[in-house]
Amino acid sequence: MKGRPRDRRALYAILGDPVAHSLSPAIHNAAFHAAGRRARYVARRVSAEECGEIMRALAMDGGGGNVTVPHKERVVPFLDRHTRAVAATGACNTFWARDGEVWGDNTDVEGFMGMWRTATSSLPDRSPVLVLGAGGAARAVLHGLLRSSGISCVLLWNRTVVRAERLAAELDDDRVRPLSDWRASAPAVVVNTTSVGIRGRHAVIELEALHATPNLVIDLVYGRVPTPLCRQAEKLGVASVDGRGMLVLQAEASYARWFGQAPPRDVMGSALEAACRGRE
Ligand SMILES: NC(=O)c1ccc[n+]([C@@H]2O[C@H](COP(=O)([O-])OP(=O)(O)OC[C@H]3O[C@@H](n4cnc5c(N)ncnc54)[C@H](OP(=O)(O)O)[C@@H]3O)[C@@H](O)[C@H]2O)c1
Repeated sequence: MKGRPRDRRALYAILGDPVAHSLSPAIHNAAFHAAGRRARYVARRVSAEECGEIMRALAMDGGGGNVTVPHKERVVPFLDRHTRAVAATGACNTFWARDGEVWGDNTDVEGFMGMWRTATSSLPDRSPVLVLGAGGAARAVLHGLLRSSGISCVLLWNRTVVRAERLAAELDDDRVRPLSDWRASAPAVVVNTTSVGIRGRHAVIELEALHATPNLVIDLVYGRVPTPLCRQAEKLGVASVDGRGMLVLQAEASYARWFGQAPPRDVMGSALEAACRGRE
């Protein structure tokens, strides 16, 4: 009996846990289709123990992909070569192979900074910034913020305080101040890089309990809009953006690393809108 013919398309995957909520397959498959690429993109839930080896196997087999929560830091030792963004952040979200070596980059940095520039362009004050979280995404956010103009202070809070303290020590920049209690702050901008809100249930902090109302809330979490934190912001009349803009920008940058050229214009943004509409 004949088996099913083998799917010859190159395989790309987002590796994480949880990963079922991810809209990356929708936007990358739309771009592959529009560009006529023989490739497909899937979401794979992988454990901490297996993520590095699975990443390498995908890349060496002619594909590649992305890494998401909570594995971005864990996969770095499995890379043969990495970009400056990975060296600076200690986190990798994009991988592929070239000349028999597995490469990694962190396109969250440019994804976040693209979103940051647009969202803050008309703000009177963008500092201090309160960054919530000290995981892989926080590393990209901090790296971007500390290199952008007008940032005199970044307050860093994490549920596990010692992790924020360690990250601040690693960054070795006087502008970064770890906080043990987010309530003791009056930020101009709040950036949520924690995974709280993924499942849409609750937000990581209560904006009302801050010392002063912020000018802007940026939530890296995305999905069905608005996220719990964006909902809080709306109630208080505070401007907010969720992670969809960043998702598209970091995905476009990942695509460019894999194929050496930009994806077809606007395809990913349209695919994301369609996927969000489909989930309502
Ligand atoms: N929009 C985008 O393009 C984009 C890009 C990157 C990331 N993200 C999102 O950013 C989030 C974080 O990703 P990541 O890669 O940084 O994950 P990660 O490395 O696993 O870090 C998770 C962070 O969330 C915190 N956290 C988890 N559960 C918590 C809880 N119940 N209360 C308070 N804090 C909690 C962790 O704190 P502890 O240290 O205390 O565990 C840690 O700071 C995810 O939702 C991801 O989807 C979005």
